[in-house]
Amino acid sequence: MIKMNFNSDTTASVCPEILSKMCEVAKEDDYMLGYNQDKYTKEVRQIMQSYFSKPIKCFFNVSGSGANVLALKTMKDNYSSIICCEDTHINRYEVGGTEYNTGCKIITCQSDDAKLTIDMIKKKLNTRNSFNFAYPKIVVLSQVTELGTCYTLKEIKEICDFCHKNDLYVYIDGARLANAMAYLNVGFKEILEDTGVDIASFGANKNGAMFGEMIIILNPMFAKNFILNQKQSMQLFSKTRFLSCQFLVMLKDNIWYKNAKHSNDMALYFEQELKKIGISLAYPVQSNAVFANFSDKQIEYLKNEYQLGSYDDEKSCCRLMTSWSTTHKEIDDFINYLKKFKS
Ligand SMILES: Cc1ncc(COP(=O)(O)O)c(C=O)c1O
Repeated sequence: MIKMNFNSDTTASVCPEILSKMCEVAKEDDYMLGYNQDKYTKEVRQIMQSYFSKPIKCFFNVSGSGANVLALKTMKDNYSSIICCEDTHINRYEVGGTEYNTGCKIITCQSDDAKLTIDMIKKKLNTRNSFNFAYPKIVVLSQVTELGTCYTLKEIKEICDFCHKNDLYVYIDGARLANAMAYLNVGFKEILEDTGVDIASFGANKNGAMFGEMIIILNPMFAKNFILNQKQSMQLFSKTRFLSCQFLVMLKDNIWYKNAKHSNDMALYFEQELKKIGISLAYPVQSNAVFANFSDKQIEYLKNEYQLGSYDDEKSCCRLMTSWSTTHKEIDDFINYLKKFKS
């Protein structure tokens, strides 16, 4: 059978702690109000607030793409544009969902490591001199990026400072924020509040949940009426308790960190083992993504056994993702299979 373990972190199942909490919630509480009014949602919100020194608001939805659209819809004006890297998920992998649902134009920057810099952003502000162009209003950073790289806290803070001085807001697509936090060894306050981010998503889908992303609103301007936006956008999940109870486990028992750290460590192990057999990497390993430089023939060979994830045909560079459930043995099996390749 074709193996899918490294195709994406979404190929992994639900981690046992979360699954058992969901079953517990289903069994214990026959009836409970929906739409954020249940005790689990309230408790997660309290815990989240305790991590910050300023008031925050958090909301829950099912998908990462939905979180992105909701946040951006909240931050935009009618004539806004959004600045992000070419590789950014909202630009490349969401079927134009951001443009479709927000009406904003996306303005992209070329970047070798999928990270934006202040210089890149600055260049995109020239169009503000003319009434002919959409007005750059939001900067989107993916943390972790689509190439597995991470912004440092200093980089995020400098970008936020620059943006706020220049009439721009900052949204972090944090589908893998947990991996970045584990890599940087920082908490929510350091990475979001101290840097000055306006809104961020905190993904659980790729970190052991059955489904779910949290939208953390730090800029109070955007908190008012968020739920109306969520409902109108058809992103308000009625039985919120099954979303929020997953985050409760993640936060209370530090599962978010344990899972993210494990997947990051597995990526480092993967890197080490690939290098031992002469395979170089296209990008540094700073999360749970390993971009391996395979030859076209190696890729064809690997495909006999593995369902590979995205790869760049031009560079023969293939993305291998580790997850909360990756084992050393799975990586060893992959390496042993690769060792048998004959050119
Ligand atoms: C950086 C990033 N953002 C957002 C998403 C979207 O998540 P979902 O598939 O849950 O909509 C993904 C999914 O791969 C992602 O990698």
